[in-house]
Amino acid sequence: MAASSAFMAGSHVWVEDPDDAWIDGEVIEVKGDEIKVKCTSNKTIVAKTSSAHPKDTEVPPTGVDDMTKLAYLHEPGVLQNLKCRYDVNEIYTYTGSILIAVNPFQRLPHLYDMQVMKKYKGVALGELSPHPFAVADSAYRQMINESISQAILVSGESGAGKTESTKMLMRYLAYMGGRVDNSEERSVEQKVLESNPVLEAFGNAKTVRNNNSSRFGKFVELQFDQRGRISGAAIRTYLLERSRVCQVSDPERNYHCFYMLCAAPKEEVDKYKLGNPKTFHYLNQSNCIELDAINDSEEYLATRRAMDVVGMSQEEQDAIFRVVAGILHLGNVDFAKGKETDSSQPKDDKSRLHLKTTAELFMCDDKALEESLCKRVFVTRDESIIKALDPDAAALSRDALAKIVYSKLFDWLVEKINVAIGQDMDSKFLIGVLDIYGFESFKTNRCLTGMLCFRHLRELLFL
Ligand SMILES: Nc1ncnc2c1ncn2[C@@H]1O[C@H](COP(=O)(O)OP(=O)(O)OP(=O)(O)O)[C@@H](O)[C@H]1O
Ligand SMILES: [Mg+2]
Repeated sequence: MAASSAFMAGSHVWVEDPDDAWIDGEVIEVKGDEIKVKCTSNKTIVAKTSSAHPKDTEVPPTGVDDMTKLAYLHEPGVLQNLKCRYDVNEIYTYTGSILIAVNPFQRLPHLYDMQVMKKYKGVALGELSPHPFAVADSAYRQMINESISQAILVSGESGAGKTESTKMLMRYLAYMGGRVDNSEERSVEQKVLESNPVLEAFGNAKTVRNNNSSRFGKFVELQFDQRGRISGAAIRTYLLERSRVCQVSDPERNYHCFYMLCAAPKEEVDKYKLGNPKTFHYLNQSNCIELDAINDSEEYLATRRAMDVVGMSQEEQDAIFRVVAGILHLGNVDFAKGKETDSSQPKDDKSRLHLKTTAELFMCDDKALEESLCKRVFVTRDESIIKALDPDAAALSRDALAKIVYSKLFDWLVEKINVAIGQDMDSKFLIGVLDIYGFESFKTNRCLTGMLCFRHLRELLFL
């Protein structure tokens, strides 16, 4: 809170504003706990001193690259500095060892090419312009020089750019710790980088905030040998949003893989008995089916290629997509009242057909599947009691099955990727990168990502 006594006529201040968050101006009068301010926008306002902050008039018009240089590290000062830098195309800014990224919402390839990586190699944090490569380089050098494992925490609200920033960090670490290897086999770091499209196909979805929102947390652990070369890696995922599988609100989408599979080449679509996504209950609850910048057919082929690269066989890939298709068919099974009181059965021929198709795709018995949805078994000490479920309860069982199957599929995929990448049990140190959503409830500070390098983040997070 600002100290009211600090303000006098002529003071430069920031005052809270309902439209612009903060506006700046000069105090023309002080009366008790109120100040009259002549704003830069020319309007004159009266504000409580408690909602005003002093303004640093010495800040250069293009801002400072490290905000610890600011005279006042308060919200309007920070936001103004980030804005000034953004206006001159500087999307990264430090606050000490924390890197803040402002989402540019456009591809900036020149910021991340090989020349830039070379430039940041071995240069101390703060010597060059703020950049995720500098954070990654600092983690790498500290690991080598002090023989201590490191971790980088990437946090920010949805759509801020955490996943994109994580990819930049990983690319740099792969560059620093990669092997010059002419063999045909893909290196650990290539496999880690190429596992991204697979995880994103199954764990990302379009939300109101972000067309490619990660609906899970991810901790990637890169293991290094004595010489600082990447020798293994492990991906750990957390808290996949299961409810999205059977409940999607407008204008969001379900997980990308469902739409991709519906847009696959015709023979695949026929094989899995799919069709227009609008015909599936788990997809048509929202009007959003297609995305402007994403072509689901191309994404399907790209995901298949990425699956090849991370070492998934054709049989495994087929099994994965059978499960995905099976979930869509399962969602189309509706229930009606059965012959007995409070019992249920598939509603009509259409529901029976979807149930049969689900059973075929899941490779299970269709009668057993129907029983498991329409009945519940209670196991007591002496016996098992079978209770019929009414149509509403059967629909809940169906959704519960869809969610659990999908989350098991996701865990299986992660496990499979980990086996393909391979861990180095003898590794001496590691660098972990955590991409996990943080402060979702901010109203005004949109699109900021913070990156911070820790020692032993694992201990910090009790992972
Ligand atoms: N550095 C960047 N360069 C170019 N585009 C970016 C950058 N950072 C973010 N974007 C754009 O913003 C979108 C959202 O970014 P990203 O998916 O990384 O957000 P997120 O913080 O991971 O969100 P969520 O928590 O929803 O997963 C990206 O799809 C991309 O279009
Ligand atoms: Mg993300």
